[in-house]
Amino acid sequence: MIQSFRMVYAASPDRYNDMSYRRCGRSGLRLPAVSLGLWHNFGGVDRLEDGRAMLRHAFDLGITHFDLANNYGPPPGSAEETFGRVYADDFKPYRDELIISTKAGYRMWPGPYGEWGSRKYLVASIDQSLSRMGLDYVDIFYSHRPDSRTPLEETMSALDYIVRSGRALYVGISSYSPEQTDAAAAILRDLGTPCLIHQPSYNMFDRWIEDGLTAVLDTNGIGCIVFSPLAQGLLTDKYLSGIPEGSRAARESGFLRRDQVTSEKVQRVAKLGELAATRGQTMAQMAISWTLRNPIVTSSLIGASRISHIDDAVAAANRTDFSSDELATIEQILS
Ligand SMILES: NC(=O)c1ccc[n+]([C@@H]2O[C@H](COP(=O)([O-])OP(=O)(O)OC[C@H]3O[C@@H](n4cnc5c(N)ncnc54)[C@H](OP(=O)(O)O)[C@@H]3O)[C@@H](O)[C@H]2O)c1
Repeated sequence: MIQSFRMVYAASPDRYNDMSYRRCGRSGLRLPAVSLGLWHNFGGVDRLEDGRAMLRHAFDLGITHFDLANNYGPPPGSAEETFGRVYADDFKPYRDELIISTKAGYRMWPGPYGEWGSRKYLVASIDQSLSRMGLDYVDIFYSHRPDSRTPLEETMSALDYIVRSGRALYVGISSYSPEQTDAAAAILRDLGTPCLIHQPSYNMFDRWIEDGLTAVLDTNGIGCIVFSPLAQGLLTDKYLSGIPEGSRAARESGFLRRDQVTSEKVQRVAKLGELAATRGQTMAQMAISWTLRNPIVTSSLIGASRISHIDDAVAAANRTDFSSDELATIEQILS
């Protein structure tokens, strides 16, 4: 009979030695410069032990923040279940050292109450998320996307209620435009539950936040955790000579489509990679460093399919300086 033994986990005593922590907007909360998201590679289709190894490794390196959403998987909900298993086995003694976030906004169950921004959906969803993860509360709960058909007041007052009822400590919004963010922040401020954080996409290929959002976040004292700093893997050396087996673009459950790996993007990445080498970095590291050079960014929210991806990202967090020549070269390659 084959038996497998899992080592009992004890977090590294050195876990706070190297990671830097950045204040989230004008709040009292500091987040690690690199946070780990469970969108891909932690679902029911993936091996639990691979996910466990990455989560343990991340925490050992000072990554205190893990980001989830109700629908992460596949199947939807299974990333929260994976996290719940690892939490119960490994992380429970460290609950007060962890910032765990989840979200609701995308389709999670059938019918009119299974997506978007109604109070009905948000409150039901967080209760489901807490149950899947085996948690009493999450640290941050997000409205995952704006909903033009639900009054903003309703969505924001549901977030306020979720905090007041003890289900979350802080609230955030994701992918809201500058105008929507400003309005949401004002409502939340009036309700007495300030908006802690915004979660937008941001990377060298996707710079929409520079066009108004960062100014709104700065004015309102809202933190900024940027997702997909590697453009889902495009901003690495992974796709330089085709689409490798097992990569996100090759996986059926991956959100990066093959047709998004264009030769134009790959050529730019090759040039950026040459610059990264002169900095003594990998392409992936320079891409993460580049997001963190922006002072509005609290944390760069990475994904990983193996432990070495986490090592790469953590090393990048300590190298956020760019010379004006380097920045000019990057602009020229991207233009
Ligand atoms: N709020 C939202 O709407 C929203 C949307 C998307 C994401 N997010 C959050 O952001 C998190 C990160 O998103 P993401 O996974 O797209 O981030 P990402 O960091 O841009 O991409 C991660 C992927 O890049 C590849 N990779 C990572 N490090 C690498 C390295 N050093 N060398 C080569 N390849 C590397 C891996 O892909 P392979 O699998 O190909 O190895 C990995 O899965 C998510 O987990 C989620 O928490 C939020």
